[in-house]
Parts: sequence; C-alpha cells; structure tokens
Amino acid sequence: MRRSRLRAPGFAKVVRAAAAFAFAAAAGCSSAPPRGPMSDGERTYRAKCTACHRVYQPAEETPAQWAKTLDKMEALKKVTLTPEERAQILQYLSGDALAGAAAPLR
Ligand code: HEC
Repeated sequence: MRRSRLRAPGFAKVVRAAAAFAFAAAAGCSSAPPRGPMSDGERTYRAKCTACHRVYQPAEETPAQWAKTLDKMEALKKVTLTPEERAQILQYLSGDALAGAAAPLR
C-alpha cells in the first residue's frame, strides 16, 4: 500500500490539490445563495426583460405585484410575450422567489 504510493511521486500532491479543490467548491456552494442551474423561467426572464433596465430580483416584488408589472410592461409595449413566456417568467419571478426566500440564510 505504502510502497505503491511512494512509487508515484507527486500523486499525493495531486490528490491533496483535488481534495482542496473539491472542498473549496463545496464551501462555495454552501455560502452562495441556494440555487441550481438557471431555470427556463430565469433564462426567458433575462432574455426578455433585462435589455432596458437592470435585472430586478424576484424578491423585490410579491407574485401579485409581478403579475401587474408584466401587465404594465406589456401595456407599455415594452415587451411582447407569448402565453408560455409569460407563464415561465411569472413562475420564475414568483415561484422560484418564494422557494429561495424560504431557504435559510447561511
Ligand atoms: C423595451 C424596454 C423594456 C423591456 C424589454 C422591459 N422593460 Fe421593464 N421597464 C421599462 C421602462 C421604460 C420602465 C420604467 C417605466 C415607468 O416607470 O413608467 C420599466 C420599469 C420596470 C420595473 C420597475 C417597476 C415599475 O413598475 O415601473 C420593473 C419591475 C420592470 N420594468 C420589469 C420588467 C419585466 C419583468 C420585463 C419583462 C417582461 C420588462 N420589465 C421588460 C422598459 C422595459
């Protein structure tokens, strides 16, 4: 066991580096806001809604307010959404936001 390890000088170093990297990656995940890869809703939101102004965060408005904001953006002809896009964006802005807000801060 010991002998085979010694036969590959530098191997332990690589293992240590890999372990350190894995640890850093894990630590990074737990300190960042809990969120997975970008959802379809977030993708659509960013594609449709962020050309003219900053990226408003889901938590900035309640789901009911977001529905009104989407109405307003459409009424002002700022954006044209298909029913699917509207549903996706609303899902991201309300559903995902609630899930995020419910998660404890670490
Ligand atoms: C073509 C440019 C444009 C696009 C695209 C656009 N907006 Fe806006 N948005 C504006 C302008 C201009 C204002 C300021 C309107 C005002 O206050 O009268 C605004 C204001 C806002 C505000 C601030 C609150 C408010 O009611 O004024 C929010 C939130 C918002 N937009 C969300 C969105 C969302 C969500 C989308 C995608 C569905 C979107 N915007 C797409 C131009 C745009």
